[in-house]
Amino acid sequence: MGFDVSEIRKAFPIFNRSVHGKRLVFLDSAASAQKPQVVIDAMTGIYTHSYANVHRGIYALAEEATEAYESTRHKVAKFINAPEPETVINVRNATEGINLVAYAWGNQNIGIGDRIIITEMEHHSNLVPWQQLAQRRGAELVYLPVTAGGELDLSVLPSLLAGGKTKLVACSLMSNVLGTVPPVKELVAAAHKAGALVLLDGAQAVPHIPVDVQDLGCDFLVFSGHKLGAPGVGILWARRELLEAMPPFLYGGDMILSVDKYASTWNDLPYKFEAGTPAIAEVVGLGAAIDFLSDLGMTAIHHHEQALVRYAFEHLSGIPGLQIYGPPPGPNRGGAVSFTLQDIHPHDIASILDEEGICVRAGLHCAEPLHTRFGLHATARASFYIYNDAADVDSLVEGLRKVVMILGRK
Ligand code: ALA
Repeated sequence: MGFDVSEIRKAFPIFNRSVHGKRLVFLDSAASAQKPQVVIDAMTGIYTHSYANVHRGIYALAEEATEAYESTRHKVAKFINAPEPETVINVRNATEGINLVAYAWGNQNIGIGDRIIITEMEHHSNLVPWQQLAQRRGAELVYLPVTAGGELDLSVLPSLLAGGKTKLVACSLMSNVLGTVPPVKELVAAAHKAGALVLLDGAQAVPHIPVDVQDLGCDFLVFSGHKLGAPGVGILWARRELLEAMPPFLYGGDMILSVDKYASTWNDLPYKFEAGTPAIAEVVGLGAAIDFLSDLGMTAIHHHEQALVRYAFEHLSGIPGLQIYGPPPGPNRGGAVSFTLQDIHPHDIASILDEEGICVRAGLHCAEPLHTRFGLHATARASFYIYNDAADVDSLVEGLRKVVMILGRK
């Protein structure tokens, strides 16, 4: 399929509706993306034709459901170039994936005096679990700073890594506020040289740019399905030897090999980390979403969004008193565009835009320390995806001119 936004929009039933009598302009995909009909159909299909619990029943329905569920694991492995499907773990969301690592790996490997490095641009989901792990284990949490231009300040990294105390570096592959795509391969190489592992939060990047865990060289990667057109399900990928050495995070059915009254042994990967009945239809929906994105091509998606970001920067810059945060358009910048407009509260901006059918997010975007670093109490954020085009940016610009007219200095 070529990259034709008007065709892509037809694949998403939500665009058949209007909002407050206006055309729907959805600019909040960094929070959660809309779902194509193929994903909705895949979920309806499993409930309508092949639903049963997975890995348990010796009958046709159970085998069909298991096959559909497991086929997603293979699709995910191919999508992120994981060497083995067994190293792909289904979790509830990226947040749960990070918590899994913080407990199962962290409790075993982080001790008094150890250091965990994260960055100032992390989402709370890649910050609070490490803060809590550091507190539990008497470790030290330190931050790689963000420059005024919204880039990671890698010049500080050697001094943070010095002394061999660092056990883990956790970093986002794309900031949900600034759109920054940091030079992760450089970071991974430096961390590994210092004996530390690297966890990458791919929640914002995996839906938008090609991600290859072997090329990146990371040790853990997490991402969420709901930001790439799938339902609420998440993925943790990790190197096999790490997963083998980690104890389970949750205990119960399906994750055991044998159970007696006072002791148990654990199932093989990936099941050791998938306790209880999983989100079967949601995982099947993730497989359909990955097929949809793969048909479009992740490189084509990235190029489309880069062009939109360039167009947005050009046109937003004409609005008096509008300031965008984060790096300028370029290959290392994703489609999350956060901004302030004079001293108008971002909640007021979002409310006025809503009246025009335009959906943006306003607030701290689950990144309070990053906002504090820029001396901000809140920003408004427009974020782009495959179904957005220049006309959506034009609507945003027009909507923001209306905001200025109502609440701002002309
Ligand atoms: N992480 C999501 C966002 O940035 C919810 O909006």
